[in-house]
Amino acid sequence: MAFKKDFTWGVASASFQIEGAAFEDGKGPSVWDMLCRKPGASWRGQVGDVACDHYRRYREDIAIMKRLGVRASRFSVSWPRVLPAGVGAVNDKGLDFYDRLVDEYLAAGIEPWLTLFHWDYPLALYHRGGWLNRESADWFGEYARVLAERLGDRVSHWMTLNEPQCFLIIGHEEGRHAPGDQLRFDEVVRAIHHTLLAHGRGVQALRAHAKTKPTVGVAMVASTRMPQTETPADIDAARSAMFAYNPSIFQHNAWWFDPMFKGEYPAEGLARFGPAAPDIQPGDMETIAQPLDFLGVNIYNGQFIEASPEGPRYVDLPPGYPKSAYDNWPITPTCLYWGPRFLHERYGLPIVITENGGCVVDTISLDGCVHDPQRTDYLHRHLLELRRAADDGVPVDGYFYWSFADNFEWNLGDSIRMGLIFTDYPTQRRIPKDSAAWYSEVIRTNGNNL
Ligand code: FCB
Repeated sequence: MAFKKDFTWGVASASFQIEGAAFEDGKGPSVWDMLCRKPGASWRGQVGDVACDHYRRYREDIAIMKRLGVRASRFSVSWPRVLPAGVGAVNDKGLDFYDRLVDEYLAAGIEPWLTLFHWDYPLALYHRGGWLNRESADWFGEYARVLAERLGDRVSHWMTLNEPQCFLIIGHEEGRHAPGDQLRFDEVVRAIHHTLLAHGRGVQALRAHAKTKPTVGVAMVASTRMPQTETPADIDAARSAMFAYNPSIFQHNAWWFDPMFKGEYPAEGLARFGPAAPDIQPGDMETIAQPLDFLGVNIYNGQFIEASPEGPRYVDLPPGYPKSAYDNWPITPTCLYWGPRFLHERYGLPIVITENGGCVVDTISLDGCVHDPQRTDYLHRHLLELRRAADDGVPVDGYFYWSFADNFEWNLGDSIRMGLIFTDYPTQRRIPKDSAAWYSEVIRTNGNNL
């Protein structure tokens, strides 16, 4: 019963959610800077101009991570901080920041795991058509090259995209996330195709330009299905539901994963989309299906499935089922067993949990501490399931808790907390929660205390 010896224990974050300094040192605006300024778009009209002020406080934050003993930190680079117009002129001050950040991580003995794109898309490129423009793949490739050339001597682990499902569907179809569009279905499918191409171009650029051999992956949403009971029939039903055509393209895992890992879109999706299917040009699928070193997945919860004579059936949760304080997300720990297992079976790569975490209503108690037993319990239950996956032979290489500290949760602003560290926004004081101490002990014992 053990995690592998060199298991990567980490914490995760994203540039827009923590950095602040939205208009400083030459940074260009992102679509999130734009969206938050639209009336009604964000909670209480909040904007991410300050967030956790990490741009200035990164040394303090890394010192806290070091005290926790984390082995790795997954962070993202703000594309418009480095390339204010998205392409072309590099903003040296912006690039210098990431240079210092990476050095600070390395000096603290923490491996930097860099996500190229975690949603803060350059506004200038949005004005040129954004992901609807096929050139967006070239733009992303250029951005990846700039980072690989500058940081590729020290950053060993890279992820191209974070959760394309979210920024494309929530951002371009539902309009709740930036850029706030409500496109037609065929337009969304086109934007997805260009994003997948961008992923491929990004991987190529990293491999071509990084000075040390990069370990490259991606951080996808895995819409996870678990068997209601662990009988062969329910397990088969859950597996097939996990990859089956789904009327919600967000939930249709194979639509996103198969191109990347098998070099083809699922046939049923192509047939059903008909004229809305993407315009696949010669060489596109080869570009998209670049070999990766790991499959990173963000899994917070999943849906239960049972076998039925009509095929896999979604099971309703019983009344009063435990839930997190974020959008009624149910607490379903077996998602960290079945998600990695099904994904590894189908795609063969080692799995890294690039995000998982619990949202509870945190407050500072009279004793000045933040007691968050529900978060510790969430973490405990999920890590036990992840360890079960490892014990059953799934190569699980790492786990990143989302998030290091409470941060600016997109359109929800500072209204929810997911961190191991409490962020007291008015003072920017960081207060480690009880769960931080608990996670630190998990790391120290490599999960043997679970
Ligand atoms: C994920 C995002 C991350 C954060 C968490 C709660 O979908 O990647 O930035 O919003 O959810």
